[in-house]
Amino acid sequence: MELTAARVLGIETSCDETAAAVVESGRVILSSLVASQVDLHAQFGGIFPEVASRQHVRTIHPIVTAALQEAHLDLREVEAIAVTRGPGLPGSLVVGMNTAKGLALGSGLPLIGVNHLEAHIYSAWLQGDEMEPAPVPEFPLLALIVSGGHTELVLMTDHLQYQRLGATLDDAAGEAFDKVGRLLGLPYPGGPAIQRVSETGDPQAFDFPRAWLEETWNFSFSGLKTAVLREVRRLEGRVQALPVSHLAASFQAAVVEVLVGKTLRAAQTFKAKQILVAGGVSANRALRKAFQEQSPVKVHIPPVWLCTDNAAMIAAAGYFRYLHGQQDGLEMDVLPNWPLSEV
Ligand code: KG4
Ligand code: ZN
Repeated sequence: MELTAARVLGIETSCDETAAAVVESGRVILSSLVASQVDLHAQFGGIFPEVASRQHVRTIHPIVTAALQEAHLDLREVEAIAVTRGPGLPGSLVVGMNTAKGLALGSGLPLIGVNHLEAHIYSAWLQGDEMEPAPVPEFPLLALIVSGGHTELVLMTDHLQYQRLGATLDDAAGEAFDKVGRLLGLPYPGGPAIQRVSETGDPQAFDFPRAWLEETWNFSFSGLKTAVLREVRRLEGRVQALPVSHLAASFQAAVVEVLVGKTLRAAQTFKAKQILVAGGVSANRALRKAFQEQSPVKVHIPPVWLCTDNAAMIAAAGYFRYLHGQQDGLEMDVLPNWPLSEV
């Protein structure tokens, strides 16, 4: 087998997306399918774990079959199976894990457990649908992972080498977007909705607090969320309609300023050659623009469709683990609270 051209089947079920993909050489996407449960959870205004795992059970086999079909491959023609081991919802992770184990057992293919956060990082290695392949990130790399469940600053000195510098002390960035979205009466998930309404809003209309947490690489977004709540309560008593677009734009500006400011400072302090931004919130247009405009070093941000949860990133991370001789046995279990520092 030619390891460098290895094709990896990736499976992702850590949260509310059932996804399967086939990726070659850790970069080339042969297929990537995502069955989102967003509409299902929207009625609850957030993710309902029991509903999520039941939906994964219904969707996982058709989606794996379709991913192989779309790549024009039989399971025997891939070299390894990668699956999200954690962090994530236990009942959701188990569905992907058991599926991957069943496929590995039946085919004899190697099985590789992947950390969901490292997979978000490896989404920057994937070639999107651009004509020119995106440049390969170079180490030392300062990675900011901003998703619905996590906000982490990570120094990556080489493949699979992660030094966690800091993280959120309360809400994750995406969680703050989702909660503020709900406060403003916007549909779930709040991130894309806030981005949309912010386009007609003034980011300086409200002076919301920025939690810099000096001397640390940590983040905090709960004070900002409370400040928005207080402002909403104050304005609700008035005759005029709530200035949703101004509130959203001012909130978004506060989040972007802190994320970009701390990441650039960390990159300078740790002499990182390049910056990488990944996770659902990295789809945010204002965040992408601020990084591209303000960073003195190259910033890698995956194309928007690879920022949110997908299985191509799981296959990519699995490929690099496999390339570095890592493999897991069928006794592998899910790790719902698996920090990147313990990978
Ligand atoms: O990475 P992801 O798909 O799932 C997790 O691993 O959590 O991230 C989902 C999060 C949600 O909180 C969602 O509101 C946020 O990413 N998000 C955005 C945008 N698109 C998705 N936040 C801000 N702006 C966006 N355009
Ligand atoms: Zn994610």
